[in-house]
Amino acid sequence: MVPQIRFFIFLFAFVFSIISSGRGGRLNNTNAIEKEALRNIQKQWRITTWETLQSTDPCDRLKPWRRDGENAWINCSCNPNNNCSIIELKVFEMNVSGRIPDALFNLTNLVNLSLGTNRFSGGIPSTVGSLTLLEQLYIDSSGLSGPLPSDLANMTSLKKLWAFDNDFTGNLPESIGQLTNLTDLQIYGTSLEGPIPKNFSALTKLETLKLGDLSGADSNLSFLENMKSLFTLSLRNCQVADEIPTFLRNFSNLTYLFLGNNALSDLFPSEVLTENKNLTTVDVSFNNISGSLSSNDLRAGLSMNYIGTSMNRQSDSEPFLKCIEMESSPCTSNYP
Ligand SMILES: *[C@@H]1O[C@H](CO)[C@@H](O)[C@H](O)[C@H]1NC(C)=O
Ligand SMILES: *[C@@H]1O[C@H](CO)[C@@H](O)[C@H](O)[C@H]1NC(C)=O
Ligand SMILES: *[C@@H]1O[C@H](CO)[C@@H](O)[C@H](O)[C@H]1NC(C)=O
Ligand SMILES: *[C@@H]1O[C@H](CO)[C@@H](O)[C@H](O)[C@H]1NC(C)=O
Ligand SMILES: *[C@@H]1O[C@H](CO)[C@@H](O)[C@H](O)[C@H]1NC(C)=O
Ligand SMILES: *[C@@H]1O[C@H](CO)[C@@H](O)[C@H](O)[C@H]1NC(C)=O
Ligand SMILES: *[C@@H]1O[C@H](CO)[C@@H](O)[C@H](O)[C@H]1NC(C)=O
Ligand SMILES: *[C@@H]1O[C@H](CO)[C@@H](O)[C@H](O)[C@H]1NC(C)=O
Ligand SMILES: *[C@@H]1O[C@H](CO)[C@@H](O)[C@H](O)[C@H]1NC(C)=O
Ligand SMILES: *[C@@H]1O[C@H](CO)[C@@H](O)[C@H](O)[C@H]1NC(C)=O
Ligand SMILES: *[C@@H]1O[C@H](CO)[C@@H](O)[C@H](O)[C@H]1NC(C)=O
Ligand SMILES: *[C@@H]1O[C@H](CO)[C@@H](O)[C@H](O)[C@H]1NC(C)=O
Repeated sequence: MVPQIRFFIFLFAFVFSIISSGRGGRLNNTNAIEKEALRNIQKQWRITTWETLQSTDPCDRLKPWRRDGENAWINCSCNPNNNCSIIELKVFEMNVSGRIPDALFNLTNLVNLSLGTNRFSGGIPSTVGSLTLLEQLYIDSSGLSGPLPSDLANMTSLKKLWAFDNDFTGNLPESIGQLTNLTDLQIYGTSLEGPIPKNFSALTKLETLKLGDLSGADSNLSFLENMKSLFTLSLRNCQVADEIPTFLRNFSNLTYLFLGNNALSDLFPSEVLTENKNLTTVDVSFNNISGSLSSNDLRAGLSMNYIGTSMNRQSDSEPFLKCIEMESSPCTSNYP
């Protein structure tokens, strides 16, 4: 070969390697088990935007399921050898029906899993406990039924669990009390039965707790005592048969307190209103509480709803009921 040609071949190879590395270098190589699992999921859920997943690597950045903002989306974590794992899976509001496939539980590197707003059938298999790295699990409004498996407790890193608006049955599982990393727990609009397990008292990192619609045995509020980080506390229609605890006055970040539709009794502790400066909404409607509030207990910006109770106010100078109860929704806006 004449030297000039050899030089041009070298130059071409050099330029080509720069161009291809600039576009991401070597192709990604997703863990074989996860690749197979995701392809099974695509087939069963018939996610049309994922059709080419059958022939390409899931963690290839240029594919439609890698576009952030899509309702059906994955994210990957890759090592310097371009070996990748699937760390996030979102199939949100995709009208997916059928059971949750076993293949899902082979995605054992998932950190975030979002399956909310679908039309699944059947329950959550106990194999869900193999997703031990999960930090966020959204299965709200997804058509699921049956019991919540105690294997959920294997997800010791879990921080957010949204399971509301499903047809779950059986007891609200005590094992959830082991998930002490939880900051956001929302389970309502189901057919689960109480009581609220006493060992939920270990969930002291909670900032949002929304439980509701528990039938079965009565619940007691002593489990709340150490949840001092709560911003939002809603226990609606949980058959709570207790007094409103005065320890709530120490929850300095508490902003939203909804205890409506229970069997709360005795006096309303006015310290809860006067000491929690961040409170904007209190709703204790439809309970057996009594006592009276003075205008000193209420301040501008606080919405207080206590219809359906025996509470009264001491002075007529200011209207206390600042909004009108709309069905079971809380009183959030000020009365004009
Ligand atoms: C491989 O995946 C990583 C992580 O998602 C991404 O940053 C990279 O661009 C991907 N590479 C290719 C060639 O798709
Ligand atoms: C995808 O995962 C990577 C870690 O591999 C992370 O840095 C990135 O923020 C994630 N992307 C989105 C949109 O969450
Ligand atoms: C990781 O990547 C290297 C180099 O690309 C490859 O030889 C090896 O088989 C990969 N390992 C796994 C577990 O995929
Ligand atoms: C969801 O699927 C059902 C039937 O499978 C169909 O009747 C319904 O219109 C679909 N809804 C949406 C929003 O696509
Ligand atoms: C899960 O992975 C195992 C290999 O570890 C495989 O034998 C099995 O078939 C996979 N299950 C599904 C449902 O993909
Ligand atoms: C999981 O989602 C949260 C919030 O959307 C995000 O901050 C976090 O980085 C995600 N985790 C991973 C591993 O991508
Ligand atoms: C969850 O943990 C328990 C106790 O460690 C174990 O027996 C069970 O097999 C685990 N479940 C899964 C699905 O890994
Ligand atoms: C909380 O999560 C961290 C990782 O984010 C983990 O190291 C720790 O063990 C978890 N706590 C418990 C009680 O499991
Ligand atoms: C309830 O939670 C406590 C504290 O996290 C734990 O030790 C106990 O095992 C839990 N009970 C059940 C049945 O999981
Ligand atoms: C209240 O919220 C602030 C800001 O998020 C946080 O720094 C503080 O630790 C919280 N207080 C409690 C008691 O959790
Ligand atoms: C609530 O439970 C605690 C602890 O088990 C108990 O001491 C208290 O008497 C109970 N309160 C009511 C009203 O049942
Ligand atoms: C109100 O909440 C903020 C954080 O959101 C916190 O720093 C502050 O201490 C709270 N206010 C009071 C009076 O406790």
